[in-house]
Amino acid sequence: MVAMRLLVTGAAGMLGTDVVAAGSGHDVVALTRADLDITNAEAVRAAVRDSRPDAVINCAAWTNVDLAETEEAQATLINGDGAGHLAAAAAEAGAHIVHVSTDYVFDGAATSPYLEDAPTGPIGAYGRSKLAGERAVAAAAPSAHAIVRTAWLFGPHGKNFVDTMLRLGSERDELTVVDDQLGCPTYTGHLAPALVAIAEQRLHGVLHVAGGGSCTWWELAWATFERAGLHPTVHRGTTAGFNAPAPRPANSVLGSTRSDAPALPAWQDGLAAHLIAKEVPAA
Ligand SMILES: NC(=O)c1ccc[n+]([C@@H]2O[C@H](COP(=O)([O-])OP(=O)(O)OC[C@H]3O[C@@H](n4cnc5c(N)ncnc54)[C@H](OP(=O)(O)O)[C@@H]3O)[C@@H](O)[C@H]2O)c1
Repeated sequence: MVAMRLLVTGAAGMLGTDVVAAGSGHDVVALTRADLDITNAEAVRAAVRDSRPDAVINCAAWTNVDLAETEEAQATLINGDGAGHLAAAAAEAGAHIVHVSTDYVFDGAATSPYLEDAPTGPIGAYGRSKLAGERAVAAAAPSAHAIVRTAWLFGPHGKNFVDTMLRLGSERDELTVVDDQLGCPTYTGHLAPALVAIAEQRLHGVLHVAGGGSCTWWELAWATFERAGLHPTVHRGTTAGFNAPAPRPANSVLGSTRSDAPALPAWQDGLAAHLIAKEVPAA
């Protein structure tokens, strides 16, 4: 593969950190939020123009799903407008943009996996802000974008559900975990090289890329405890019982119709890799 210049935004985030590492065979320009605020259109334009990338991978985002309910304008400024600024700057510089989106653009009422062309219908503010970003990216870079929807991320470089379970599982004798939401847990260490490959191949359009298989949060918690040798009693909870500020899709399993979409390892393999990366001894 010919080396490219890759510009990565949100480079200090959970996914961004792994994308920077996965791009190590290329010339990577890693911009954290402190280096580049993607809501600043002029700064974005200057950064892209000056670094002359072949591809931009946008890992910058507002990711607090619950807080987005009361701060939707701010979430949309980053996830919608910010993504659009980057895509416009990339298009102007002749660079391909790989934009990361989410399963939360779907309403969750489906009974089979969501394919790339399934109708969107976010039920919360975060999903709406991310859908605004997808639309802004497609409008600003109509012929050179990949919108990569992924789901339920966990990795060594950020706050995530698996790490929360590791902590709670060692602190508590029992806990309750939601068992009526179904999704695709995805290890950032598996997703990151796939994003780099998408940039290398300049894949275009919407792609669904998530950990193989699917499970509920309860099942993910159970598998985490089993692997880590923790033995709390894990009660099966409901979404209604948790009464979180943001609604979440009941079924956001992603499927793909694209033969060129990278297929990631099963979520169980992602979990195992994550625990190894965190040096959690196997049970
Ligand atoms: N986490 C998940 O379960 C999940 C699921 C599906 C899709 N995704 C998508 O995956 C992508 C990566 O998420 P992640 O889990 O890695 O999130 P993350 O750890 O929160 O990383 C996001 C990064 O973006 C930065 N950022 C926020 N506002 C910014 C701005 N205005 N300009 C530049 N950078 C800004 C954040 O900086 P600060 O920390 O300093 O604010 C953070 O470093 C996002 O597009 C997200 O929507 C995530």
